[in-house]
Formats: sequence, structure tokens, C-alpha cells
Amino acid sequence: MEQEIRKIQELRELLHRQNYNYYVLNSPEISDRQFDELLAELDALEKKHPETYDPNSPTQRVGSDITKGFSQVDHLYPMLSLSNTYSIDEVDAWVGRIDETIPGQKFEIVGELKFDGTGISLVYEKGKLIRAVTRGDGIHGDDVTANVRTIKTIPLVLTGNDYPDFFEIRGEIVLPWKAFEKMNQERQYKGETLFANPRNAAAGTLKLQNSAEVARRGLDAYLYYLLGDNLPYDNHYDNMQAAKRWGFKISDAMTLLHDIKEVDEYINHWDTARRELPVATDGLVFKVNSLRQQLNLGFTAKSPRWAVAYKFAAERAATRLRFVSFDVGRMGIITPVANLEPVLLSGTVVKRASMHNQDIMQALDVHDNDMLFVEKGGEIIPKITGVETSQRIPGAKPIEFVSHCPACGSPLIRIEGEAAWICPNKMGCIPQIVGRLEHFVGRKMMNIDGIGQETAMLLYNHGLVKNIADLYDLTAEKVETLPGLARKSAERIIDGIQASKSVPFERVVYALSIPYVGETTAKKVAKAAKDIDTLMAMKPEQLESIEDVGSRIALAITDYFADTYNREIVERLRQAGVCMQLSPEQASGPKSDTLQGKTFVISGVFALNSREEYKNMIESHGGKNSGSISKKTDFVLAGENMGPAKLEKAAKLGIPIIDENQFLTMIGENQPH
Ligand code: IVH
Repeated sequence: MEQEIRKIQELRELLHRQNYNYYVLNSPEISDRQFDELLAELDALEKKHPETYDPNSPTQRVGSDITKGFSQVDHLYPMLSLSNTYSIDEVDAWVGRIDETIPGQKFEIVGELKFDGTGISLVYEKGKLIRAVTRGDGIHGDDVTANVRTIKTIPLVLTGNDYPDFFEIRGEIVLPWKAFEKMNQERQYKGETLFANPRNAAAGTLKLQNSAEVARRGLDAYLYYLLGDNLPYDNHYDNMQAAKRWGFKISDAMTLLHDIKEVDEYINHWDTARRELPVATDGLVFKVNSLRQQLNLGFTAKSPRWAVAYKFAAERAATRLRFVSFDVGRMGIITPVANLEPVLLSGTVVKRASMHNQDIMQALDVHDNDMLFVEKGGEIIPKITGVETSQRIPGAKPIEFVSHCPACGSPLIRIEGEAAWICPNKMGCIPQIVGRLEHFVGRKMMNIDGIGQETAMLLYNHGLVKNIADLYDLTAEKVETLPGLARKSAERIIDGIQASKSVPFERVVYALSIPYVGETTAKKVAKAAKDIDTLMAMKPEQLESIEDVGSRIALAITDYFADTYNREIVERLRQAGVCMQLSPEQASGPKSDTLQGKTFVISGVFALNSREEYKNMIESHGGKNSGSISKKTDFVLAGENMGPAKLEKAAKLGIPIIDENQFLTMIGENQPH
């Protein structure tokens, strides 16, 4: 009894952490299936002990994708999820339950792919797309109409004449494998973090504030659910075929199935055939075809009874552990990595797999030479998900986490409240030094062309560069001496280093590798401090008054600048001519307070200045930008091609719509063009 209550607590904590890893960090440590199993275990225990009820338990929680900067819209019908199954037997049992619930009735089942993207609801009125909303928490979601309009396979205007006057259609926005790979290649090149899988990439892309960038990324959409009062047919399949004629992308894999045998064949077929698909799928969905029967079967609180998901097994292989190594990252974080006997897993040979951190490694209880299960879930790096203990070699010892840095030998430290062990030897530990060099030269930081991982390592190994400031002492003659580097590449590197001196201050702050200071934080900190001397002198309390800077970041910044070594580096960078303050334009602060207290929404395409320039103008005159129209909006600055939904909303709320000339007049910058 007490043990069960303790187990409830443990499971809640574990699942909360895994939710965080999945949704916030985008790096799940356990598979979806393990998650579902643990959640089911927790659910059963909570039912047995109703006194432990907690509205914050992971069982009570629905995931939500609601994001700041988008306006929220209520769904016309709640967006529910599907119950999951993991085997043919479980699907067959579901078919059996249908049979029992509507006894004596024949029923057809529609088999579909379960697309692994991000759910979307589209509303059409009089044949025109009027709104696109994310799932959100199922009750209301974010209005992402502007971004969805850029997806070429979503019709803005329908073809034919047999569509209802008003209806909703739901589907999945996906990023095809090819586009996903291209995007990650670009991100790697720019030194940005990679998306773990096409699902995260699609969801992230849909929430960008810049529709032009959304359009560039190549999203696609498959539709699978039609809702409304006047649907043309009384069954799901025919309605979807009608939707196909209206211009929607409906997968050809959607098939009418007549009995359990056909259902099983469908599963067996797609279990392997899915590997050839151009988009990621994580399973199949089975739906009762007749809308009348759907109505009879109804819904539970979370999902329809007339549909079920069958999840594909994550591709898994078993192989022997050769040894465990411990990787050291740019910030000194130690990651245990299983080095394996090479094994083929969904088309690629796997030799290394992550075990994330000490907690996970201990939970796995890996021993020397163990037979391990390695899985490629939705992540790029395969991970170890279990041990085949029956094949453990007698006398094998458990693997221990290192106590000292494998690269430099320093005793490791563990920051309270975090799972990671860290090597504190920031200045003498090679992978950290080279990692920081690589970061510094990255596209989004100093953007120094010609230096990648390999060149950074070469520069270090040949004693030419020991820290980021040394880069500025390089000459083409010195670089040319490195193996494999011709004069031309050497010159390109030197040009890149020269050019980096004009990189704006906020990117310099990001390039320094201050722990926890990412791109956005760097920008905010740079804008608040204005120059490096002020930043270096700031107290934690002052830093904490900057938007998005909490005590952890504030402390990381003060610690960083308290270090004389770092101060010397900064001084040398300054001497070399690296930009250490905001540009006069950025620093002069608001040009006027003409727009004080006014909130603008910018929409459409402009002729005289770019959107970005208008945003800056609004801010420099004291105004605020917002991504979506609401009661709080004071003006809509409209260019060409402003979306009809936005126009309508602005009109409805009585918000004045101004064009660029009117805006420029407002801030006194209108010169006749
Ligand atoms: S039907 C009420 N069909 O899977 C039923 N969903 O776990 C509505 N999904 O939220 C969903 N492919 O985002 C349905 N062919 C498909 C699907 C599909 C992917 C997603 C969808 C849903 C989630 C449920």
C-alpha cells in the first residue's frame, strides 16, 4: 500500500521529467511506448488510490502547443487524441469491441497512415480557407493562418461545387524527410541546434513569426478528418475522396477494409512499406467508416471509440557493448556513450548510442560487454533502451560513471538539481576549448567562413589557436602551414576573420559561450547592457531585471566575467577590433516616443521598407510589435496581400488599418518617394 503510493510519486516525477524532455528540450530519453506504458501503470495505481488525486498529475494533463505571440482561437469541436495499440492482437481486440458495441451490424474500417507531424484544423467558408489553428490544448489552439497559407498543398480556394458552405477539415502538417534533412544540414552549417525529427521541425516551423521563412522550408499537409453539418456523404471514406476532388491532399494509402483479415494484412504491409514513404509516419489509424456508426460508438473523455492508432515498433536491434566512453561538450557536460559492435538499424550502421546522463545510465544498469538494445526513435542519435540480462557474461561488472574528466582528468562536479556532471576545467580541457572555437566561428555567431570542426581542431593541435582571441592573430602565412590547407583556403579564413569584426555586439555576446546564454538571451542582454564594460560590471540583480534572465543565467554571466581569463579574452577581442557595443543606432534608444503605448500588427508585403525595418521603426519610436490582432492592437500596418482573415478581424474589432505611407507620416519620416 505505502509502496504503491510511493510508486505513484515516483512515476509522476519521472513522467513530468520525460514530458519536459519531450516537449521543451525536444530530446526524449525514453521511447513513446515506454512512456505510454509508464503512464498506464500510473493511471491504474491512481485509480486504485483515488485519495492521491492531483490535478497536476501527468495522467490529468493534456499536452499543449500554445505559444506566445499567436492569438488563441476556440476549436469548433475539441481536438481529441487517439488511443494507442502496439500489436495486431490489440487492434483485433478493438475490432472485437466494435462488434460487441454495435451487435449484428456490418461495418467497414478505413485504414490510414498515422502521419508524424503536427495536427492542424482548417476552416473553410464558401470555398475559401478562413482559419488555420493548431491543436493547442485540444480546446483552443494558436491561429497560424498566415503561416499555413504558405503551404502549397493546402488549397486556399476549393475546386468543384459539392463542398459544404462551412466546414472544418483536420490533418497533419509534415516536413518531408528530404526537406527535413536539407534544413538540418543548413542548421548544422550555421551552428544552430538540430531538430531531432521531422515532427519537431514541422511544429517549430509552423510557429515561426516570419511567414516567408515558413514558405522556404517546404512544409506539406495530409488531411484525414472532415467535420461539419452538411457533409456530402454518410461515410468517412467517400467524404475524404470528395475532399481530394476539392483540392486537398489525401493519402493514397487510405484504404477501405472489410474484415479483420484485411486489417491484419494492412498492418503487415505498412510495417515495412512505411520505410519507403517520403514523410515520417509513426503508425496507422483505423476508423469505422460509417458516420452513423461513429455516432453510435461515440467518444471517451480523451478519444473516439470509433478509431484507434496502431503504433509502429521503434526499430530496435540488439548488439554487444564494446566499451562506454564519456563525451565532453563545449560547456563541459559529460555524456555517457555506448560504443557498440556495429549493427544495422533502419538502413544505417550504428556504432555509438547515447545514454544521456548518469541517472539514465544507472537506470539501465549496464554491465561490461552486455547485450544492449539500441533504438532509433524519432531522434537523430540512437539510444540505448535496455539490456538483455539473460545474455550477461558471468562476473561482468556494472559500468561506473566517471569521476574525472576523460579528456583532462579534472574531478567532475554536479550542479545541484541537474542530472549532468560537468568538467570544471573550462580553460584547459581540449574538447571544451575546441568546442567553443567551433561555436565562436558558427554562422549565427561570428560567421567565420572556412573554419569547421576539423579546421578548429587543426588550428588547436598545431598550436596556432588556443582560444577565441588567438584567431585574430592569425595570418594567411601561418594558416597555410596547416596540413591540407592551400593558400586560397587560408586567405578565405583570414578574410572571414576580418569580416567578423563588423558582426553586431549581440552576436559577439552569443559567440562567447557563456553558459545558458543562447541566441535570444544574448540579444536581450546586449540590448540592455549596450556595451561590454557595462555588461561585465553588472550585478546579478541588475541582470535579473532583464526580460527572460533568471537567477541561473544571471549567475552564469557574473561568474563568466568574474574570471580574469575571460576578461583578458574580451580585452584582446576588443583590441583586435571586435565590436563591443551596440551600434549608435541601436544604442540611441527610442528616437521618439510618438508611438508610446501603441501596439502594432504588421501584415503583408511592403514596397518602401522591409517588415523587419518597420518593426525596428515601431520600436525605436516607443511602440510595440505583436504577431496577432487582438483587442489590444492599436494599428494594423498593412502592405500588399494582407490575409482576408486578418482584415476581417481588424474590421470586426474596429482597429484602424494604415498603409506604409500613413505610418511613415505618423513617425515624421515620410519623404516623397
Ligand atoms: S484522426 C478524433 N488520422 O495523431 C480523431 N489522426 O494521436 C482525430 N494523426 O491528434 C485524429 N495521422 O494529430 C487521425 N490518419 C490520421 C492521423 C492522425 C496522424 C495524429 C493527429 C492526432 C494524433 C492522435
